[in-house]
Amino acid sequence: MKYGYFDNENREYVITNPATPAPWVNYLGSPEYGAIISNNAGGYSFAKSGANGRILRYVFNNFDQPGRYIYIRDDRSSDFWSASWQPVGKDLAQYKSECRHGIGYTKISADYSDIHSEALYYVPLGKSYEVWALSVTNHSDHERNLTLSGYAEFTNHSNYEQDQVNLQYSLFISRTLFEGNRITQQIHGNLDAIPENENVDEKNVTERFFGLAGAEVSSYCGDKNEFLGSYHGYGNPEGIVCGDLGDKTSYNENSCGALSCKITLKAGETRTIAFLLGMKPSSEAAEVIRCYENPAPTVAEELEALKADWNSKLDNLKVSTPSPEFDTMINTWNAYNCFMTFIWSRAASFIYCGLRNGYGYRDTVQDIQGIIHLAPEMALEKIRFMLSAQVNNGGGLPLVKFTHTPGKEDTPDDASYVQETGHPAYRADDALWLFPTVYKYISETGNTAFLDEVIPFANKDEATVYEHLKRAVAFSLNHLGPHGMPAGLYADWNDCLRLGANGESSFVALQFYYAMTILKIFAEYKKDTEYVQYLEETQKAFGEKVQELCWDNDRFVRGYTESGERIGEAAAPEANMWLNPQSWAVISGLASPEQGDAALNNVYERLNTKYGAILMDPPYHAHAFDGALAVIYNQGTKENSGIFSQSQGWLILAEALRGHGERAFTYFMENSPAAQNDCAEIRRLEPYCYGQFTEGKASKHFGRSHVHWLTGTASTVMVGCVEGILGLRPDLEGLRLSPSVPKSWKHFEIEKVFRGKQLHISVENPDEKESGCCSLVLNGQKLADNYIPENLLQDKNEVILTL
Ligand code: GLC
Repeated sequence: MKYGYFDNENREYVITNPATPAPWVNYLGSPEYGAIISNNAGGYSFAKSGANGRILRYVFNNFDQPGRYIYIRDDRSSDFWSASWQPVGKDLAQYKSECRHGIGYTKISADYSDIHSEALYYVPLGKSYEVWALSVTNHSDHERNLTLSGYAEFTNHSNYEQDQVNLQYSLFISRTLFEGNRITQQIHGNLDAIPENENVDEKNVTERFFGLAGAEVSSYCGDKNEFLGSYHGYGNPEGIVCGDLGDKTSYNENSCGALSCKITLKAGETRTIAFLLGMKPSSEAAEVIRCYENPAPTVAEELEALKADWNSKLDNLKVSTPSPEFDTMINTWNAYNCFMTFIWSRAASFIYCGLRNGYGYRDTVQDIQGIIHLAPEMALEKIRFMLSAQVNNGGGLPLVKFTHTPGKEDTPDDASYVQETGHPAYRADDALWLFPTVYKYISETGNTAFLDEVIPFANKDEATVYEHLKRAVAFSLNHLGPHGMPAGLYADWNDCLRLGANGESSFVALQFYYAMTILKIFAEYKKDTEYVQYLEETQKAFGEKVQELCWDNDRFVRGYTESGERIGEAAAPEANMWLNPQSWAVISGLASPEQGDAALNNVYERLNTKYGAILMDPPYHAHAFDGALAVIYNQGTKENSGIFSQSQGWLILAEALRGHGERAFTYFMENSPAAQNDCAEIRRLEPYCYGQFTEGKASKHFGRSHVHWLTGTASTVMVGCVEGILGLRPDLEGLRLSPSVPKSWKHFEIEKVFRGKQLHISVENPDEKESGCCSLVLNGQKLADNYIPENLLQDKNEVILTL
């Protein structure tokens, strides 16, 4: 079943049936001001932090209320509805609705009772408040009198937990006032007599506002209970039912902002108003509202600016292939998803309620990879930041606080860090993610000077980027387990696999092997010959060890526990075949071609399903070792044999690196949101964004997906598609073109901006191959192989690659 379609021209996903299987959401705003909105206008807003800057309330767990509600009431008939289908929820036989989730905005239109409404929600570019612009058109043949009302449910405290849990306190600090065109909410308003620089117990007055522009307020309400009325819900608030909000404010109650205006529309007439919401002192709020006195042109202009800004990033890579699903994901939705994880990490969604108040090291360093080809400058800033969260012993801080202060942070070696973050120790993999990320950035941009940039460490000292990377290698070598592979420490990529501080993970070993390959490239570039030689020797010996310890006939095992148990070997009763060691054996370059193919074939046979490959098989149940935390999950779920979507990206990449275009693309399609648009009742998540996992074949809800938007899947699949399937593989001096595609792709095109130059690449595949290169022609000149040295590039380039 489908609920909508992709409008690729406008980069919008259009929901035509609002009764979606789950709230289907969009993100608005920037790190300064974030807003999440569903297709039924449910969702919440926050300034800077979902945990500590929460402005709007939201009830989690698919209840999808409250939200940014706009009610429309016909004052002659007393009938009322909402500009989004919910919360009033009119019969869909009479009520027509369309929601367009776009890049940085959401537009919900409705047709009911000959009134057409369009509610446009967005955060203006560079601003820290939100706009709900409403245009209403009278499509009947007679004059209509309407009451338009907006409702925003404020939290009583900016800290999400205080608002939800500590009611004996938070109920008694909030109050609202009406100030002509707005409701002002004050938290700790009684501190207004105390000078700003002398706060009490670190508290001072915080103000939020909900304002109206483009019409006179006819009635208002600042108190949630008064707005709803006893035993009423969001679907029939008393003041909406009767067309008068009763002019109440709150004092020791749940605050809200509700404002009504009365308009008269002649037949055919349109009127636009705007509700404004934010966390700002009342005087600044007044300024904001003034900007929207004439809402229609202002809103149109701001929307254009927002789109232009997004397009300027997304236009840096455009593909046109025979697969509409691939194109829409790579050109718009996967890319946009990558930016959202880049911006919000795992902080705020309809699953993450905001309390993860910092950046996970590995997550963030991986997330950066998804946007490097689109916005390398943004990536660079975050790479610097993450390098500044590396401890001077080379390890990464497991959690990097939003308030991170380089040079001044405690580390997992300090009890204070452990207590504050809840992260008890270093993780074996964190700093190793830096290698592919830094390499991808330098290759995309050619900015080799970055290797010499000096960046502080998290705790103390500073060093060049090159030295930071050397320390990361040293960290792994200083923390080896009994067999000589990197020690398990607290965990590796898999949070639910605790091999023990002295256990050893093959995944980390493979990452480490790969890290040395990358560092060798940098060392060669820097003519650091002694170090090159050191790395060569170390890597060779290390590689032999990993081969000996981890290759088990037709698979790589998952590692060794502290007590010496080998995990993931064929003979084990459970979890005897794991996905990530197979794909990473190929990605890391450790597997021989024969091993790689055998391991990947085994994945296809043992782990693959129609919705993607499961993480391991069989699930843990009766034979979990002590650290096999995955057993806490139902079978077929998350790390316990779920289809952990992030791993699908690595699998796509591994198959593509082996030149297996059919398989790579099959894996792309299996877990691609867009490919499941027509079976949304099974997948349930938005068909335009990735989720953390899909339930595997051991679950009775096989195919159902969870944890939308903020997931490492966005970046791994992006890399799998761009570097893998499309085969765009930059290195320090140029760009290699190695597509791995389905045989049926006879022709496709790529437009890419590379180091400021425009490339138009046509790939011809007359002989229906999966990979390989017969010829590469750059601006009419035939090149030796599939490599384009940067110095041959002009400002605009025509490239023809024949497979
Ligand atoms: C979650 C975590 C990530 C971890 C993964 C696998 O996605 O955010 O850090 O690698 O689970 O356990």
